Amino acid sequence: MKRDTILSGMRPTGRLHLGHLSVLENWKRFQEKYNCYYMVANWHALTTAFDDPALTIDAAREMVLDWLMVGIDPEKSTIFVQSEVKEHAELHLLLSLITPTSWLERCPTYKDQVQQFREQGKDITTYGFLGYPLLMAVDIIIYKANLVPVGEDQLPHLEFCREVVRRFNHLYSREVFPEPQAYLSEVALITGLDGRKMSKSYGNEIPLYSNPKEIKSKVRMMVTDPARIHATDPGHPDICTVSSFHKVFNKTAFLEIEEDCKKGKIGCVHCKKSLATALIDYLSPYWERRHELEQKPDYVWDVLYEGSKTARRKARETMEEVRAAMGFEIPGSTGNF
Ligand code: TRP
Ligand code: SF4
Repeated sequence: MKRDTILSGMRPTGRLHLGHLSVLENWKRFQEKYNCYYMVANWHALTTAFDDPALTIDAAREMVLDWLMVGIDPEKSTIFVQSEVKEHAELHLLLSLITPTSWLERCPTYKDQVQQFREQGKDITTYGFLGYPLLMAVDIIIYKANLVPVGEDQLPHLEFCREVVRRFNHLYSREVFPEPQAYLSEVALITGLDGRKMSKSYGNEIPLYSNPKEIKSKVRMMVTDPARIHATDPGHPDICTVSSFHKVFNKTAFLEIEEDCKKGKIGCVHCKKSLATALIDYLSPYWERRHELEQKPDYVWDVLYEGSKTARRKARETMEEVRAAMGFEIPGSTGNF
């Protein structure tokens, strides 16, 4: 039986953090079962941050180093860069001709962003940003991916993608593209240091690639049960960020820590120290792996080069079908050069 094809992507907009870890752990598991494409969405990154000088191919490289250190494996998955597969641009243009603007304007992500820009006094909702979901649809369907692991926030984009697919297949009376499904898998809900969602925009994140010193200082900043003043006061671990981290990264000790906290048998300082140790133990194999990878600077470039080549092969194949469906090919030519 043909294996299902997965495509997912991340924008290279800064250091990955612990909130990304369970997503990457899922990606790692998928590689054993599916035909996986993992994409650096660097064009997407530019839709909101076109003026960020840091958004170069080096940002892609940094992010992919994090992917590799947690075990995304170029032998098993196609790891590639969006901007290296120009066919995405062609398909994006073609689909823009059949996509009603109203479908894009009603996307909640678009409406939110416009609102945010307005509050910040900026007037920079670009043409490209409006097309964000369309470019994302292209990323998926150009590889004929049928499963897309995304967070809930991306579900409207996936629904939009399915609509575009139906419209295309209907207009050109053939099933060129499959309708992709969202693949909602469990992601550990990691909160940030302050108990809100972990996010760079809140500045409450713990980087994935870090060092013991930084981890210790981040953990010291975590909010605990505010009602607890003395180490002997009974605590409420269910409202404590530190405890929620023990649950994910210090599974064996979690129950005991929770009990001790409730009984006032453990102080927050000590509790945080033990979390920092657990986190460092959890992450250091990844850091070591990344140090090894950094010894061979060309390695990541090779991975991206080869992965992009593989991706391009598939994208070109799909584009031949698209051009044929739309009646664009010169007889005898595939349109690929
Ligand atoms: N929009 C996604 C995000 O911000 C990134 C992305 C771009 C993506 N293209 C994709 C995700 C295709 C899945 C499939 O998280
Ligand atoms: Fe949180 Fe630990 Fe303090 Fe309890 S002892 S409130 S779990 S930091």
